[in-house]
Amino acid sequence: MDEPSEREGIRSGERALVLHPYLRKTTDNRLRDPSGRLEEAVSLTAAIALDVVHAEIVPLAKAKPGTLFGEGKIDELGEFIRNSEIDVVIIDGPVTPVQQRNLERRWQVKIVDRTGLILEIFGERAQTREGALQVELAHLSYQRTRLVRSWTHLERQRGSLSFIGGPGESQLELDRRLIDERITKLKRQLATVVQTRELHRAKRKRVPYPIVALVGYTNAGKSTLFNRMTAADVYAEDLLFATLDPTMRRVSLPGGQPVILSDTVGFISHLPTELVAAFRATLEEVLEADLIVHVRDITHPETEAQRQDVLDVLKRLGVDTDDADLYLEVLNKIDRLAPDEKEKLENSTSRSDGQVAISAITGEGIERFLALVEARLTARQKELSLDIPASDGATLSWIYRHGTVLAREDRDDMVHIDVKFSAENLGRLEKILKDIR
Ligand code: GTP
Repeated sequence: MDEPSEREGIRSGERALVLHPYLRKTTDNRLRDPSGRLEEAVSLTAAIALDVVHAEIVPLAKAKPGTLFGEGKIDELGEFIRNSEIDVVIIDGPVTPVQQRNLERRWQVKIVDRTGLILEIFGERAQTREGALQVELAHLSYQRTRLVRSWTHLERQRGSLSFIGGPGESQLELDRRLIDERITKLKRQLATVVQTRELHRAKRKRVPYPIVALVGYTNAGKSTLFNRMTAADVYAEDLLFATLDPTMRRVSLPGGQPVILSDTVGFISHLPTELVAAFRATLEEVLEADLIVHVRDITHPETEAQRQDVLDVLKRLGVDTDDADLYLEVLNKIDRLAPDEKEKLENSTSRSDGQVAISAITGEGIERFLALVEARLTARQKELSLDIPASDGATLSWIYRHGTVLAREDRDDMVHIDVKFSAENLGRLEKILKDIR
């Protein structure tokens, strides 16, 4: 398989036009605001490193079966595409293979619809093996229906450079067979991966620090918060963890407790159903977390509906969001609120310890947030006093690496230590102590 950024023949930096077709007679009564949806499509497009030249809402009375848009609009957009040297048109909605081919012919550009766009993003962010396989599977099933295009990666792999003009029947059949074979193989691999998932998780758990996972809607500010927390920290660039995913970093909380901070793929409204499994698999990471931080854009008009969506998915993954030790909400972007709204929010969150109001941009509220994270993690730690032979350097160093040492006293050939451990490390310590006795 090609690199994700190459999958649909998209190259970073290409000039993009983003269109949001808006069917006036929609039956969907959630998120009806087309400007919000256009904004989301623009930020998703920018997230795969395309250069968004222009974006617009295209109101439609009805989608035309052959071309989606009407003749007049196709001509008008065609002229814009030529004049502005657009390479890719993102159409934020479902586009049938026929509509896609016709528009590609008329405009002489690549067309990517909403499913294609989201697949690109998932492809880049899938962290677990299962996630990557699920995304590839979704991608192939999607591509199989769109083999009419001549610029798919299969074509390029064979060295054919024809851009427009469909391949012959036999080529199509060959492509389909290649895809079907790949799909069968992927399904087999997935079955094995699911079987070994528990093993895999156990291995990941060997990371000696608690894992804090950021989840939330796309655009909520997860990456901004992630960057703020890692930028201020000397450990953020720690090479020890360079082998972990780029979205995982070690940071130290103000009290000195090191944690692994993990950024996850953002939730997307109106996720095409064929992508739901792929999305869940990319989120598997959160099951390994010791604390899940749900970052919310409190200024988004749909903030409550978004919250419910996130909670539903987390619950379906098996996360107990009612567990106050495990789940925390960050109400982000308070810098955008009017002073009275902000005061109201700050008052209500200061009374609840399950929510904290912050601005990831200005840094307001971050200290309280970090203190809360620290409190949650230490709440589950157990304190104990140990006497270790001074000669047992290995055990002593293990204790320093995995626990928070509160006090130490060296007595002749013994070292007395007061230390705090997470429940998990406590279990490991018990085993070590049993082994040396
Ligand atoms: P995905 O990667 O799509 O899941 O998004 P994300 O949750 O990582 O959001 P990101 O950090 O990329 O932020 C999205 C947008 O919101 C960016 O334009 C940020 O500059 C902006 N943003 C993030 N935090 C704040 C904040 O506290 N205040 C304001 N005003 N804007 C913010």
